[in-house]
Amino acid sequence: MNLRGIQCNVFMIALTGILISCSGTKQETATMEKTIFGKTLEGREVYLFQLKNKSGMNASIITFGATLVSLNVPDRNGVKSDIVLGFDSLTSYMNQSPYFGSTIGRYGNRIGKGTFELNGVKYSLAVNNGANHLHGGLKGFDKVIWDVDQKESVQGKSLALTYVSKDGEEGYPGTLTAKVVYSLTDGNELRIDYTATTDKPTVVNLTHHSYFNLAGAGNGDILGHELFIDADRFTPIDSGLIPTGELKSVRGTPMDFTTPAAIGARINDSYEQLKKGGGYDHNWVLNKSTPSFGLAARAYEKTTGRVVEVLTSEPALQFYSGNFLDGTLTGKGGKKYEHRFGFCLETQHYPDSPNKPQFPSTVLNPGVVYKTSTVYRFSTR
Ligand code: GLA
Repeated sequence: MNLRGIQCNVFMIALTGILISCSGTKQETATMEKTIFGKTLEGREVYLFQLKNKSGMNASIITFGATLVSLNVPDRNGVKSDIVLGFDSLTSYMNQSPYFGSTIGRYGNRIGKGTFELNGVKYSLAVNNGANHLHGGLKGFDKVIWDVDQKESVQGKSLALTYVSKDGEEGYPGTLTAKVVYSLTDGNELRIDYTATTDKPTVVNLTHHSYFNLAGAGNGDILGHELFIDADRFTPIDSGLIPTGELKSVRGTPMDFTTPAAIGARINDSYEQLKKGGGYDHNWVLNKSTPSFGLAARAYEKTTGRVVEVLTSEPALQFYSGNFLDGTLTGKGGKKYEHRFGFCLETQHYPDSPNKPQFPSTVLNPGVVYKTSTVYRFSTR
């Protein structure tokens, strides 16, 4: 196609009009590129957006669950691989995903027995994990379609997604307007900024649930990854993975990652907390002061040299070693995800905070803006 003397290819539909890429300098419209990823059973279209940076890293996000479906990151030789677990089809994301790449809300992690009291009123939430509430319930923020905020999105650089959760949804009080903005910086950082407002007092704990494998999704287990977590304490759990309320020192236990250690080095130790979690599935209390933004964790994979650093304004981090993966899920490119093929570093407030007054509060009141940020920063060694 020749547009005013410039060679152009129409390569994608855009939010408004047609986006035209040109080998010259002109670009007709600067709207977000999108492709159709799939359709829900009700016929609603789910879109995929791609962010790219100057160093050649790219991230793809779909509007279903504001889900990160791929993240291509260079290794020490500049070879890119997709380092997050996921599926090729929307149907798999809808029907069988253990939160691969999802945005989690209204409350990330567990709330004991699915109940809590706020200002003297008892609320009953959807119970979807044994006797407990997990990751927002039966239809959490990972299973809804988010809207694209065009004004706040920058073509190829950042994507802003919004979702309005109704008063009473999954049992939570108050209409919650949530926004998540994904940005890819030229410094190889995937930045995620969350904001939310409510019209009634409620509880909020938004997080991101990518399963990383720095050797590439589907390329073996993550037990050889070396992990550092800047936390001297963690919140011990009961057999339902609900915190007991205690803060326990990691010293002298397999929970100590203050000195980098391979994930697999102590995972099978006969330590009661590891037995309860089926491996690592715990909340670490970060050493940095809250709500300051700082380093929470770092993981390194020696065969590829890839490093991910996690920085956050949140007070805690759930490190989950993919214990429930068992080879029954077939992911992108037909690869099977066996036991511990991915790990999650979920920045958050502590689990079950609505029932633990001694934990930092997760209550959001009208007139206040919930605001948190997390960065996954990639480099090589
Ligand atoms: C979270 C939980 C885990 C597990 C996964 C999803 O990270 O802490 O126990 O439920 O999500 O499988």
